[in-house]
Amino acid sequence: MEFLLQLTEDWGEELFSALSKAGGKAFSNMAVGYNNVDVDAANKYGVAVGNTPGVLTETTAELAASLTLAAARRIVEADEFMRAGLYDGWLPHLFVGNLLKGQTVGVIGAGRIGSAYARMMVEGFKMNLIYYDLYQSTRLEKFVTAYAAFLKANGETPVTWKRAATMDEVLQEADIISLHPVLDKTTYHLVNKERLAKMKKEAILINCSRGPVIDEAALVEHLKHNPMFRVGLDVFEEEPYMKPGLAELKNAIVVPHIASASKWTREGMATLAALNVLGKVKGYPVWFDANK
Ligand code: DGY
Repeated sequence: MEFLLQLTEDWGEELFSALSKAGGKAFSNMAVGYNNVDVDAANKYGVAVGNTPGVLTETTAELAASLTLAAARRIVEADEFMRAGLYDGWLPHLFVGNLLKGQTVGVIGAGRIGSAYARMMVEGFKMNLIYYDLYQSTRLEKFVTAYAAFLKANGETPVTWKRAATMDEVLQEADIISLHPVLDKTTYHLVNKERLAKMKKEAILINCSRGPVIDEAALVEHLKHNPMFRVGLDVFEEEPYMKPGLAELKNAIVVPHIASASKWTREGMATLAALNVLGKVKGYPVWFDANK
């Protein structure tokens, strides 16, 4: 028995009772996030749940980096301007954006994807780093320490880094903030009206995690009143929809949940998901982050 399910829909009681009646023993999200799966309901019907971490780490981090660059250098606005035939010669102030080098990148949630993004921004663009994570990310700490030492040894300006004690510290100090927490009750509307107000007026906010991590209605208001504040969003609070007003804002770049959409990665995700389900039939363990 096979179902083709949407990641943007919630799966619980109805699916798992049907699956177990049909003799199904395993279910795999083709995603690393599994906030859409009611794991208790799956357990109740004896269905093992799997997810597909690892294969999408770099691809997702690359999309976060792409959105960062696109927002910092106003690529989408400039592209629209060009296509509209509005370009009539070089001007010193035309689409002036931000230089990333020397600015501070803030990462909220330094797991696999957040750490990969942090490394890309620090090593690729020589950004300083501030991050907040509930868990100690020693690999990220080791990387930035070693990289800062390498720059110093080569006579280059070393990058600085700090593990923040609170999330608000990141919001206040960073020029670019990228969100990478898992979505659960504690991270729902993590970025709300009050927290948006704490960020720099010209900050750039990136979200490739899950839409409900941001209060999207509050974000739309914030973007309207702060034209220099920019966002790059891959995910939305009620996918596939966007909150009214967001689509009209020039300081927002929006893409349709494509962070893991590279050919190699999608093939890897599909393979892992299939192995999760088939493996269970053969008696192998199902890969599920929550069990680790
Ligand atoms: C994930 O794996 O959770 C992604 O959002 C899917 O692209």
